[in-house]
Amino acid sequence: MDRILGIDLGTSTSEVAIWDQGKPNLIPNDRNKVIIPSVVGLSDEGQVIVGQDARDQLLIKPDETVMEIKRIMGTNQTVKLGDEVYTPQEISALILSYLKNYSEDYLKDKVSRAVITVPAYFTDEQRKATIEAGKLAGLRVERIINEPTAAALAYGLEHIADETNILVYDLGGGTLDVTVLEMFSGVLEVKASSGNTTLGGKDFDQRLMDMLSERFHAKNGIALQDDSHALARLKDAAEACKIALSTQEEYRVLLPFIAASQGEPLSLDETVTREEFEILILDLVTATAEPIENALADAGLTKDEIQLVLPIGGTTRVPLVQKFLTETMGQEPRPLVDPDLAVVQGAAIQGAILNKELSGAQDLLITDVCPYTLGTSTITHIGGVLIKDYFDVLIPRNTTIPVSKEGTYYTVADNQEQVEITAYQGDYKQASLNNLLGKFMLSGIPPAPAGDEGIKIRFTYDNNGILQVDASIISTGKKASITIETASQNLEPEVDYNLWKEAPQASKFRALIRRAERRLKSKAGAPQWGELDGLILDLKKALIKNANSEILEDLAEDLNSLLYEMEEA
Ligand SMILES: Nc1ncnc2c1ncn2[C@@H]1O[C@H](COP(=O)(O)OP(=O)(O)OP(=O)(O)O)[C@@H](O)[C@H]1O
Ligand SMILES: [Mg+2]
Repeated sequence: MDRILGIDLGTSTSEVAIWDQGKPNLIPNDRNKVIIPSVVGLSDEGQVIVGQDARDQLLIKPDETVMEIKRIMGTNQTVKLGDEVYTPQEISALILSYLKNYSEDYLKDKVSRAVITVPAYFTDEQRKATIEAGKLAGLRVERIINEPTAAALAYGLEHIADETNILVYDLGGGTLDVTVLEMFSGVLEVKASSGNTTLGGKDFDQRLMDMLSERFHAKNGIALQDDSHALARLKDAAEACKIALSTQEEYRVLLPFIAASQGEPLSLDETVTREEFEILILDLVTATAEPIENALADAGLTKDEIQLVLPIGGTTRVPLVQKFLTETMGQEPRPLVDPDLAVVQGAAIQGAILNKELSGAQDLLITDVCPYTLGTSTITHIGGVLIKDYFDVLIPRNTTIPVSKEGTYYTVADNQEQVEITAYQGDYKQASLNNLLGKFMLSGIPPAPAGDEGIKIRFTYDNNGILQVDASIISTGKKASITIETASQNLEPEVDYNLWKEAPQASKFRALIRRAERRLKSKAGAPQWGELDGLILDLKKALIKNANSEILEDLAEDLNSLLYEMEEA
């Protein structure tokens, strides 16, 4: 059978595992390493290199090294590597290709399917970008799963008979997730997730870097920030210092010849105590209390009802984080799964669940939630007052997924012809204060007095955390829909539908479109005309976009059967 790779695509490191002989197995690369730096660089020959090799030359070639790309996934930002510009998806795809290739070498088999983990608090845009990265790497992404959920699966596999309420606290290189789950007889039910997609160990490093460079500046009057080589060394040293302070009380950061003054080399030589470090990061650590409280509140559980606090992610090794967790939760976190590997193990387990490879005794079932509130903007009457830009919630946060919810809305003006459909994510009552995921126009509303014509809007949130929005005019059945695309493609450009005639595949569908248009003209007002109009436009648009023939054939078939129905009537 075509096996499914489980992949943890992390901010700092990535891992890959596969289900085999009743358990998740980590796949090592040709150097027998299972933890791979999420770093991409260029070799002396200008070739792209990934992993430890790229990490090793960071200090020599900081300008030809890309790291922590996960922090900008789902944004429009790009990065430069040599002379080329890359999107975050493309850089992630290079990491995924590397993992895929060495997995194939190790397994002596081709693999084309994967489960990839993302932070629970990743948005729609960030999830889409991750799926796209998988595609670019030649992987069919069978499922996107949330990292804390994956870690819980790894725990669940070993403790299948437990009845426990679990709080997973996942603090990695770049992200924080807090997830509350209930486990009973092999069923893991996620109750709520909260978090912060831009808080992690990298921020601790940054605080140390800032302090070290301030001290250096105070002593030497030189700003290290202006020199990319010096900065790369400083960053490296800051991380080493942080990691050392997890087990030591103090650490000496020594960076010889980090700068020069009047031809004289200058070194940075600073000793940092754990106490100093803890003061630097205290506010970052305590900021994680809020997601904990939110996740507990949304799960309807108190701290006392949590039997297990499960720490995941490299940053949970920081003693202050452990102390904070113990105080906040009133119990010590218990590392019952490997904090670095539980997520990738869970991804492999999810792959096995999808492939039905789990044996009866291991029969795990997992349900997850949508961590964000999703809804649409409307105009509404509250107490006789007309309120514009009102956020009408369709999917409240922490609803179990997959979920599909519908709302009905009415025209607000006489003879209103069209309506703008919006999708927002957030918890503000005023829609526009929330994060706009996408919008589109639904036009062709038949002329009628205000409030007479109804529009249905349906939000469908799938197992991968991707939102699809459908809208239709109730009286005519005319439909429009979008799958919310990445931020960069949020706004659909206006399409000039007349261009379809010039499309490469137009000739095959010309007769059908003519026939449909004739019917549309002759029978305007028939109950299905809205649907017909929509399908014709869909087909034209697909032709203009030169969609693959499968999609075109599907649309043509839909159009054909609708025409047949209408001709019969
Ligand atoms: N012993 C340690 N003490 C303190 N921090 C550590 C230790 N070991 C690793 N870290 C930090 O943990 C972070 C990496 O953790 P991890 O590999 O779990 O993150 P990731 O999966 O790459 O990131 P994310 O899950 O946020 O995408 C880095 O910031 C690293 O410096
Ligand atoms: Mg991680």
